[in-house]
Amino acid sequence: MALSLRDLPEPPTRPGNGHLQDWALAPLPLIETGAERARAAGGDLFRLRLGLPAVVGFSPAWNRALLTDLGTFRSAGSFSGVVPYLSGGVILTDAPGHAGRRQLMNPGFGRAHLLALQARLCAARPGVPAGEFDALAWADHAVLALLNAAYFSSEFDPELLHAFLAPLRRPFPVPALPRPRLFWRVDREVRRLAHARLTRGGDDLLSVLAPLPGGLEETRVSLAAAHDTTTHALAYAIWHLAGHPQWHAPEHHPAALKETLRLHPPGWMGSRRLGRELIWNGVRLPRGALALYSPYLSGRDPGLWAQPQTFDPGRWAHKPPAWAYLPFGGGERLCLGMHLAQLLILDTLAALPPLRRVGGDPAPHPGLTLGPRGPLVVTGAPTP
Ligand code: HEM
Repeated sequence: MALSLRDLPEPPTRPGNGHLQDWALAPLPLIETGAERARAAGGDLFRLRLGLPAVVGFSPAWNRALLTDLGTFRSAGSFSGVVPYLSGGVILTDAPGHAGRRQLMNPGFGRAHLLALQARLCAARPGVPAGEFDALAWADHAVLALLNAAYFSSEFDPELLHAFLAPLRRPFPVPALPRPRLFWRVDREVRRLAHARLTRGGDDLLSVLAPLPGGLEETRVSLAAAHDTTTHALAYAIWHLAGHPQWHAPEHHPAALKETLRLHPPGWMGSRRLGRELIWNGVRLPRGALALYSPYLSGRDPGLWAQPQTFDPGRWAHKPPAWAYLPFGGGERLCLGMHLAQLLILDTLAALPPLRRVGGDPAPHPGLTLGPRGPLVVTGAPTP
């Protein structure tokens, strides 16, 4: 007979609220303990009490199932649905409509189209401050300018773009609050710029999205998905390079970025809802349960990686285990902006001088995305 979700291991609970308080205040120790207990029990799944049945898995087999069986693992009803910034467009479209929607969007976000924008992106990148600077604040500023260039040829009102994206960085529930007036102003600005592209043409990302059905919403939602993720990845990459200067060279940057994203994946937890009952390794998971996967847990699993807590870009000389490394998700829902993020980050790293750490707080701080607590103070000054 199949076991039930209640039989799964779980991290310690608190009387009265299960795991809700720890989920809100300290989710990384919570999920790390859950994973340890699951491993100790010989399994790859643990349960969380978040007010509805929830399971977290971290094995390659679980990741593969969740990311490829889109009939069972549905996006409708996932965490994205409660954040107005992410609640729409391709992110919340389920199979069978999802694949067709991605087919319309993928070419604009593919390598060939992005390379055509590369020179404009480099020109839009803000200069690196002389002497000491906070890599987190600078990355935030740089990514805003780079996304404005990629999406809108730098024609979007920068203050409005900043005002739109800033709440995403704040702790919950701030990103989940409705902002009809702000979204209306953003949509109006996007519509104004889209009109120019629909009548006169263009080659930026808005020119690709504007003619699509729902293109306005896709623009707004993908910008929200793009900003903090890319900012946090860039800030952590700068911090790691400043601490390991031997890797700060364009030929090493791809491996250094991979290693940064293994240890600090901005998308630290992805969520789905079960569209049907599922028996997983003998455990019956009910329809409607929240099903989570974690690039953070999979990227640090001691059963999958040698010395998982060590920053070692050298490990990328070999292929990682399949479905263990998922900073951009995988399968049909693979991050739409993966090539864009890689291009923006690698070109930015190549433009940075030799760096040295000065101080700050790199502890991972999980919100909607995982970023450093900050600041991350580095200096471009040569080592004395
Ligand atoms: C380093 C930067 C980035 C990281 C780490 C990242 C991470 C992710 C992850 C993990 C997913 C899958 C979520 C899931 O399976 O639940 C995803 C999906 C997505 N990302 Fe990114 N992302 C980044 C940058 C971007 C950028 C620049 C864009 C701009 C277009 C973007 C747009 C999207 C969209 C639209 C989806 C949903 C795709 C779908 O469901 O078909 N992301 N991203």
